[in-house]
This record gives sequence, structure tokens and C-alpha cells, in this order.
Amino acid sequence: MLTVNQLDVKGKRVIVRVDFNVPLKGSEIRDDNRIQAALPTIKELVGKGARVILMSHLGKVKHKEAPEVVEEQKKKNNMAPVAERLSQLLGQEVFFVPVTRGEQLEQAVANLKDGEVLLMQNTRYEKGEEKNDPELGAYWAKLGDAFVMDAFGSAHRAHASTFGIPNTLKAEGKQVAMGYLVEKEVANLTRCVAVKDEDRPYVAILGGLKVTDKIQVIDTLLKKCDYIIIGGAMSYTFKKAQGEEIGSSFLDEGALEYAKNCLKEAQGRIILPVDSIATDSFEPVEGRKIETLDSIPAGLEGVDIGPKSAVLFKSYIEKAKMVFWNGPMGVFEQEEFQAGTKAVCEAIRDLKGKAFTVCGGGDSAAAVKQFGYKEDFSHVSTGGGASLEMIQNDGHLPGIDVLGD
Ligand code: 3PG
Repeated sequence: MLTVNQLDVKGKRVIVRVDFNVPLKGSEIRDDNRIQAALPTIKELVGKGARVILMSHLGKVKHKEAPEVVEEQKKKNNMAPVAERLSQLLGQEVFFVPVTRGEQLEQAVANLKDGEVLLMQNTRYEKGEEKNDPELGAYWAKLGDAFVMDAFGSAHRAHASTFGIPNTLKAEGKQVAMGYLVEKEVANLTRCVAVKDEDRPYVAILGGLKVTDKIQVIDTLLKKCDYIIIGGAMSYTFKKAQGEEIGSSFLDEGALEYAKNCLKEAQGRIILPVDSIATDSFEPVEGRKIETLDSIPAGLEGVDIGPKSAVLFKSYIEKAKMVFWNGPMGVFEQEEFQAGTKAVCEAIRDLKGKAFTVCGGGDSAAAVKQFGYKEDFSHVSTGGGASLEMIQNDGHLPGIDVLGD
């Protein structure tokens, strides 16, 4: 598999699939981490005189909805503010093309000079994008002479822009390659699936809402890890499976039987919280009850791990030689329920220089950043869904496998 620096790109039109799916508030970008993460690849191509055509999705556009709803979603997920921010970060003009096909796009590509950059409108404006419509993939592929995949966060999606384009170009004998971001993500996440003896004890920490969404990843990690620590809302389904009281905490009914079997199979290698912070109101209303409890009575719901659990979790984390973490321990967006997620961050920080530590994107990466621990991790992934799928599929993702062996 080639990397971007191995391509001969001078004067060539190079399509780069980036993941600029950034959080927006109106037209304000709330976190430009993903744009920053793509800069090394873009700069490499600009420096070598490529004509850079950037493509990304942004948010969701549900084409099955009524036309006016689709129009509203398109308006909300317009890429224009991203082009502006990218231009500031790159220090050069980024030509924004507000359409995803037709003469205006083709002309803008034809007008590009060596070292210039354009950003196409949101790929999801096209109905065929998420369906990996071969006509769309082939149409976009015609705009380029080569393709670089740098959208790690979207590499688990076999869409027209992530799969169709490289597949078409490859069949035509054109070059396709990984960008620097994808290369870095693959190197770090592969280590979490191809576990060496020196990386043991290997401890995974999982949180988040639904067990159902993580069944495959739990199964895979159980085979690879020495211990799996489970916190967050997910843990209440496991606690219930053990016959414990969980009050009105979130219960993933459909996964209860799975959780029972899983605990049996794990033979003590799944570590659950021993106490919780519980409340009578998820909403931050005045006068709500907040208690620290070993078991949760009716009327209260668990929203964070408690202090005894934080100590228990740390006792496993501090012995680890490798840690993979995905999913917060509680509702860290609210100050009252941050302590558990912070405690995990701190336990991992204390491993700095002693262990290989990976945060697998999504909400946990947002927490790591918010609490200021990003530099303490060996790697913080830019892809939530992608890093989990990479773990569960033993290092494989369609948007990366399509690039070659
Ligand atoms: C993400 O934010 O996880 C990626 O950009 C993928 O987005 P999607 O879940 O909308 O495909």
C-alpha cells in the first residue's frame, strides 16, 4: 500500500478524501481538530505541485425525507465554513465549489493550477454517496489522476467517495495511496489488534450507552485483552445481568442475555463499577438529588462511576503495558458527572512513558481534549466508529483495504 509521499503528483489532479465532519454551531466550527489533522497530507501535495481536490461529508443528509427537509439538512451541513477555516490554517486560498457535480465543478477542477487547492461541497448532497452508487464513484473519479485516502474517521464507510473513487481509479491503473493521518491511525490501531507479549497486560476500557452496539468489539477484545473495564451507561446492563439493582439506569434489554453469557465466558476478566453517582434527574434542574451509592434504588439512575470504582479501575490501568479506551464513564458533559471520566484520564496519564495508550475517538476523545490530557496519550484517534470497527475487524476497514494490500 502506498503512502502519499510515494506518489508522483507534480501537475496531477489529486483527489483527497478527508474527514471534515466537524461539529458546527450555525456556521461556527466548534472543533477544528479534524481539519488540522489533515494538514500534513494537504501540505505535502501542495508542496509537490499537485492540484488538490478535497472531498468530505459533513453531518447527515437523509434523502428519504421530504424535499424541504432534505434542503434544510443541506443548508445546515454546507461545507463553506470549512473551506474558510482550512484556508486560514493552510495560509493559502482554498477554492470552494458549492456543488457536487456538473459544469461548475468540472470547470473549477480544470482551472486549478499546480499547488492550488479546492474543496467540493458536502459529498452527502448526493443521494448516491452513502449507497456507493458506481455511477457517482466513476463520475468523481474522472475528476482526478490519483487518489489519497486521509479520512480515517470515514474509512469504515464503503461510500462512493471513500470506496467508489479509489476502486475506479485503481481499475484504470491510476495511483491510490494513504495520507499521513490514515497511516498514523493504522499504525497505532493495528498495534491494539496485533498484540505482542511486551504489550501485556493489555487493558481495554469501554463506556458509552448501548451494549448492543459494542457486542462485536467486546467479543474481539475479550480474545485479545487481559482485562476489559466497563463503565458508563453500558455497565448497568452488565450489573443487571449479575442480578444487581440498577434503579432506572439505562438498560439495554436486548443485550441482557448476551451480558450474562459474556460475564460467564470472561471468567473474571470483565471489571465492572462497584459504585455509582446516581441522580433523580438527568436534566440539570435545580434541587435534583445526586448520591453516591453501591446499588441504585428505584427512582434514581446511574450517571457516572463512583469513587470506589475509580480506585478499582486505576488498580488495573496502572499495571497495563497497553490500554485501549473507547467511551466515557459518565455524562461528562455535566460538571457533576465528570469525575469518573477524569479519573480514567488521570490513570492513563500516569502511564505516560511506561505503556502504549490509545483513545479510540468519539466522545472519549472529546473528553480527553476537554480535560487537557491529549498530549498524555500515545495516540488519540480522529475516528470513533472507525477505530471501533478497526478493532473488531482485526485491523480491516473497507476504505483502507480498497487501497491495496
Ligand atoms: C464520524 O464523525 O464518526 C465520521 O465522520 C463518520 O460520520 P458518519 O457516522 O455520519 O458516517
